[in-house]
Amino acid sequence: MKTIVIRFPLTANDFQKVVRILQAGGLVAVPTETVYGLAANALDPKALQKIFEVKGRPQDNPLIVHVGDRWAVRKLVSEIPESAKLLMKKYWPGPLTIVFKKSPKIPDSVSAGLPTIAIRMPRHSLIRRLSQAAGFPLAAPSANVSGRPSSTTPEDILEDLDGKIDCVIDAGGSYYGIESTVIDVSGKIPILLRPGNISIEQLRATLGKVRIARGNSLRPKSPGMKYRHYAPKAKLIVIEGRKENITKKIQSMLNRGRGKKIGVLTVQHPRAYRHDCVKFIGATNNLIARYLFRALREMDRKGIELILAEGIPEKRSGHAIMNRLRKAAGYNVIKV
Ligand code: TXA
Ligand code: MG
Repeated sequence: MKTIVIRFPLTANDFQKVVRILQAGGLVAVPTETVYGLAANALDPKALQKIFEVKGRPQDNPLIVHVGDRWAVRKLVSEIPESAKLLMKKYWPGPLTIVFKKSPKIPDSVSAGLPTIAIRMPRHSLIRRLSQAAGFPLAAPSANVSGRPSSTTPEDILEDLDGKIDCVIDAGGSYYGIESTVIDVSGKIPILLRPGNISIEQLRATLGKVRIARGNSLRPKSPGMKYRHYAPKAKLIVIEGRKENITKKIQSMLNRGRGKKIGVLTVQHPRAYRHDCVKFIGATNNLIARYLFRALREMDRKGIELILAEGIPEKRSGHAIMNRLRKAAGYNVIKV
């Protein structure tokens, strides 16, 4: 299959072309404000099956359904609890996914057999307009091969999926750079399943009590929690602790590791280490989130064998960043 690349903003003709691809059951990589999504008709089991195939995604990991407007939610769920109404009012459109009890009409493959469905109304208007014009909600996992860092640029998508999907819409780098916050409101007490840009502090301010799902439990609340995720090809070690200790530890590891191709991800400045492969990914949480996955993929393209990454404080979106970084490292963490 030839994968076509279309530049954002789309001409009216291109927009219609993409709508037709989706209506025919095709797969289109679409920008959202978090990461790129691999979109298909959420009500078409054959299209959904293709998503699982091209990503190599485990069948028991359910997909997020993206809607064009709030009204579309009614048809997908069996009830909208008060907590969900508050969240939808405050954070939609935006980087928040809400897990509801699902309507019986939803294909099983969307929710991987679970009695719930994850729904998001993104801020990026293109995916919303495509859903409205096509006439159905769009299932869209991140547009990467399962297990790899999520795609935040068109190059990332092509690296993983060229020739396997119908179309990529090129809108440059993603704004947030990490995936949406996922919160489950289908039970009595809301549960944070995946941290994201909308933080636990914000969710508690809106809802009161919110539990945090434990990432490594044997029976994960969210199937996505049990798989290796966001992983670069290189070995990745996260060094956490006080800033001075982190710097010292990484510099000593660099000194000892001569001869090996080592890359460093720093949040300090490009010359924080005496070493030739140091990537400064930003000094604020917003920038670190935006460039984290890109930097991991860049290290792989350079043939780096070992990546050393600095840990950051887990305040607000720092929680989400550290969640991604630790998972990417397979929980290979050194505390100093
Ligand atoms: O920002 C995002 O959320 C991006 C963009 C494209 O919207 N999408 C994304 O999708 O990150 P994906 O498939 O890579 O991650 C979906 C996560 C997985 O961890 C999955 O297990 C969880 O959401 N999930 C989906 N449906 C669920 C459900 N019914 N109950 C619990 N977790 C669910
Ligand atoms: Mg993903």
